[in-house]
Amino acid sequence: MSKGSRFKRLPGFRDFPPEEFQARARVFDAWRRVARRYGFEEYDGPPLESLDLYTEKSGDEIVGQLYNFVDKGGRDVAMRPEMTPSLARILGERSRAMPKPIRWFTIPQLFRYERQQRGRLREHFQWNVDIVGEADLGADVDVLAVAIDGLRELGLDSSDFHARVSDRRLLAALLQAVGVAEERLPAAYAVVDKLERAPREWAEERLAEDVGLEPSQVDALLALFDDPGLEAVRAAFGDRPEVADHLARLDQYLADLTALGLGEYVTFDLTIVRGLAYYTGIVFELFDRKGELRAICGGGRYDRLLELVGGDPLPAVGFGMGDVVLGELLKDRGLEGETKPGVDYFVAPVSPRERALALELAAQLRSRGHSVVYPLSPQTMRKQLKSAGTAGARYTVILGPDEVAEGMVVLRDMGDGSERRVNLQSLLDGE
Ligand code: HAM
Repeated sequence: MSKGSRFKRLPGFRDFPPEEFQARARVFDAWRRVARRYGFEEYDGPPLESLDLYTEKSGDEIVGQLYNFVDKGGRDVAMRPEMTPSLARILGERSRAMPKPIRWFTIPQLFRYERQQRGRLREHFQWNVDIVGEADLGADVDVLAVAIDGLRELGLDSSDFHARVSDRRLLAALLQAVGVAEERLPAAYAVVDKLERAPREWAEERLAEDVGLEPSQVDALLALFDDPGLEAVRAAFGDRPEVADHLARLDQYLADLTALGLGEYVTFDLTIVRGLAYYTGIVFELFDRKGELRAICGGGRYDRLLELVGGDPLPAVGFGMGDVVLGELLKDRGLEGETKPGVDYFVAPVSPRERALALELAAQLRSRGHSVVYPLSPQTMRKQLKSAGTAGARYTVILGPDEVAEGMVVLRDMGDGSERRVNLQSLLDGE
């Protein structure tokens, strides 16, 4: 077996050689710019947490995907599969003294032992943006606007993606209206969450077995999703008082997003419920318009999680946007951006006699903030110009004995190949 094949990268994990790292950095930079534009501050937490932070709060699906083990101190620990429980834990320790609302964002690397499929890996980076300490709808609106702007900042628009939004309180009222018992709502949410991807027979079976519905109730429940638009729901259930309030809240939510100029990005869709257990209100997911990819982003209101984790009872709303599906969408739309290497100067001594001067010039230019490389071993000028091209240098500074004797250097523009003589001292002085 050759040496190269002995250690393989684990399935579902990625290497980031410079081109891929650059593409990733471009996405992170856009996310950071947008978060700061909306007044969010960046934070982080540990990548390893106590196992029980997830086992009770996140829901069965994510718990089944945990990377967990017993550490050398005998503690049950898990690599973080999501950030929200850590956020709740961190704020539980310090939120009392903090002015509200708290606006925090972070870009952690997360770990889930997922089944191999397109758009899902075993690690990913996820932009998390959360507002904690504000129960009003205004926070739900602001958070979704950030998510949409995060994608617009990367060059995507409403022809590329949209947000599908719903409200768990509305869904709960509708499910109860067709006969789902309150304590079976989480089981019913789990079925609704998979309706789009699973066969109808699977849904019928789960609704009978896990949710305890009669065949006629199963039909009535599934009929809710034949047309998951807001007007269909309003026409069928709008006159029920327990539904009307939730519809009015959604109307306001959509109106505010329209006022922000984002109306074309948002569609109501009753099938959106979210897989995680802790959501309590408006929920949303962002998808590519063509519907070819998995969700780019998911989030919503979770008003009870902080209390569950042992902190003050604070309302909260936020989202997580992954880098994997987004990367696929950007590639598909030709929006990955420049990934070529590049430096400002390549300093090329013609002979070993100019080497010390080359080092001095490189040091001076670097101290002024320019990026500079030079050959690490003696090279012919032909080879050096080739290296300068490979390095993506904008200029090559050629230090030849005749020019140097006159206090001059040759500056070659690598874009068009033109050359001109410039004063060495003025280059050293940064003029
Ligand atoms: P989530 O829906 O589990 O939510 O993940 C959010 C996004 O992360 C997904 O839409 C997807 O783009 C990406 N993602 C999740 N799992 C993977 C994976 N295995 N591979 C690649 N990408 C993935 C949460 O995690 C919530 N904690 C988000 C949140 C923050 N809610 C409120 N605040």
